[in-house]
Amino acid sequence: MPLLEASVLTHYLCPDPARVVGMMGMNMKTSVAIEKAVPVADPDEVRSEFRNAMARMAAAVSIVTTNGPAGMAGFAATAVCSVTDSPPTLLVCLNRTASVHPAVTENGVLCVNVLSEGHQDLSRLFGGKTPVAERFAAAAWSELSTGSPALEDALVSFDCRIVHRADGGTHDILMCEVDTIRLRDGGQGLIYFDRAYHPAG
Ligand SMILES: Cc1cc2nc3c(=O)[nH]c(=O)nc-3n(C[C@H](O)[C@H](O)[C@H](O)COP(=O)(O)O)c2cc1C
Repeated sequence: MPLLEASVLTHYLCPDPARVVGMMGMNMKTSVAIEKAVPVADPDEVRSEFRNAMARMAAAVSIVTTNGPAGMAGFAATAVCSVTDSPPTLLVCLNRTASVHPAVTENGVLCVNVLSEGHQDLSRLFGGKTPVAERFAAAAWSELSTGSPALEDALVSFDCRIVHRADGGTHDILMCEVDTIRLRDGGQGLIYFDRAYHPAG
């Protein structure tokens, strides 16, 4: 691997220079040269590069809601993906510092509402510091099986029970077993890419 490539790669992947030299020493013949090439990466810089990199990854936008003894809450989310269809399971990553975190984790249920291209303003409401009542007042909701709000005109709503919670550092990784699916016909998806909303079609 050329020296420059090694430098660029390790800069983003491994902020600890000592570890980089150790790792690269295994693959390269001259560890002295590698040592000179490896930049001392600042963790803030690495975080910022990761965020810039993730901005290049297009993602569907959903509003994740919950309701129950710990109250009603909802937030905009792109960190949602399919795990398996047997049994149907999604995972959702939720920031532990988000205002909705206690409600979602204590209620133990959530509904993933996949947004369409017309939902940009709604996504901004649920992705900002707007009070809960104001977020929900902006759209029409119903209930499926768990009691979590299901967005009336979502492309699809997955009503789920949280069956497992894993530690993802700043985030909780929630494994969610799907109880009920409501599919709507038509409509284009809403994509978040390059820090902006785009219609999927
Ligand atoms: C497009 C978009 C995608 C987001 N994706 C996630 C996500 O996957 N997980 C998460 O925890 N927060 C995500 N957020 C941030 C939450 O929506 C945001 O923290 C929350 O709604 C506002 O913070 P608060 O609930 O603490 O007031 C996203 C925000 C936007 C605008």
